[in-house]
Amino acid sequence: MKNMKKLSALAASAIVGLTAISAAHAGAKVPPLAPLGDPPIPADNKQSEAKIKLGKMLFWDPRLGGDASIACVTCHEPDQGWGFADSLSRGYPGTVHWRNSQTVINSAYLKKQFWAGSVGSNEKQAPSAAKGAVAGNGENDVMETRLAFIPEYRKAFKEVFGTEWPLISDAWKAISSFERTLIVKDTPVDKYLAGDKKALTKQQVRGMKLFNGKANCIACHNGALASDQKYYNLGVPPAERWNDDGLAQVTFRYEIYAKGVTQKLYRKLKDDPGFYFRTKDKNHMGKFRTAPLRYTKYTAPYMHNGAFWDLREVVEFYNAGGGQNDFTDGTIAKTKSPILKPLGLSEKEIDDLVAFLEGFSGEELKVEAPKLPEYAPLPNPASN
Ligand code: HEC
Ligand code: HEC
Repeated sequence: MKNMKKLSALAASAIVGLTAISAAHAGAKVPPLAPLGDPPIPADNKQSEAKIKLGKMLFWDPRLGGDASIACVTCHEPDQGWGFADSLSRGYPGTVHWRNSQTVINSAYLKKQFWAGSVGSNEKQAPSAAKGAVAGNGENDVMETRLAFIPEYRKAFKEVFGTEWPLISDAWKAISSFERTLIVKDTPVDKYLAGDKKALTKQQVRGMKLFNGKANCIACHNGALASDQKYYNLGVPPAERWNDDGLAQVTFRYEIYAKGVTQKLYRKLKDDPGFYFRTKDKNHMGKFRTAPLRYTKYTAPYMHNGAFWDLREVVEFYNAGGGQNDFTDGTIAKTKSPILKPLGLSEKEIDDLVAFLEGFSGEELKVEAPKLPEYAPLPNPASN
């Protein structure tokens, strides 16, 4: 009896695998959707209770930023899907960010972080968030000194990292360890793929078939994260706020300037060129990393600039074959992915697909905010 169950689960996963492969682009083989395992832990940053506890406090602590008013959690709010529920994220005081804030849930699995995949791990991501001009805008030495003047942190860093004086680089490690606990797995989709056929509703099962077949989402959203972590241009429309919000325009221009493009492009760029910024290869214009689909029930709005406000709007966008974008001179970008084609989904099929997408999310992850320790001045050596 037990074996029978096992066999039928195996057969079912083989079927999921086959549909995945047959539906993929031009015969390219892609991995099927799969249950999510545990996140990888880097050998030089092992998990421990004390480190996770410290990392959690630091995630909440605005003293890891420029003017000590904005912490990681300010833009990654637990009750906003651990992101920020506006099209463009809020920015450092006096600025608006230029992209949508991503959820930190399951970021521990990602080999490419940020919308255009510019860093390879949580450890590398955290300093760029705390220091970036429109995010934390912090300065390493200032942030490190602040930590040193908080006795509870001095004690915790010593216990966890063995240093007399907290090191800012260890703060990023502790935050990363905390992020490795922000994991949502065992969702209805995971349970279904692991063999529990009751975990998804009939409607969701129909949605899954569309996902793997007619709608061909699996071509890019595949494997356990529902992301191949590759780059595509879908023709997502530009951020609306770039038309009428001065602060948003300032950040957009600043980012283009800071990322170093030609004078001509600096003047002409009308939209976020994404991956192009990193390679300066025009074949990468407008490409972004395939977004994982887990936890997306809670992370609206969607896409790198929050262009869509609910999952149905996203599916309608794909049903129309994606969009068309123009970066400079009024001509449509040639980098749009050839995989996207009008899908011909009916209203009912769209509902089914949306219901399936929701199955990737499970329960919301709630944690209690930590109590932050106070500063205490050390005796001034000059007065000794
Ligand atoms: C001012 C708002 C803001 C602050 C503060 C902020 N973030 Fe973010 N975060 C964002 C935005 C916006 C993005 C996407 C940016 C991009 O791709 O260019 C992002 C992306 C990320 C990602 C990438 C997720 C993925 O799917 O690739 C992680 C992880 C993350 N932030 C963690 C942090 C941590 C840790 C801190 C504190 C050290 C922090 N953030 C501070 C707004 C913020
Ligand atoms: C050609 C590859 C490709 C295909 C096919 C594809 N996607 Fe995507 N998907 C992406 C990329 C790339 C992004 C991020 C785009 C951006 O931010 O501009 C994305 C983003 C999304 C998002 C937003 C997630 C977030 O966190 O904001 C959802 C939802 C989504 N896709 C669902 C689907 C569904 C449903 C299908 C099938 C109808 C599908 N995708 C087909 C590549 C693809």
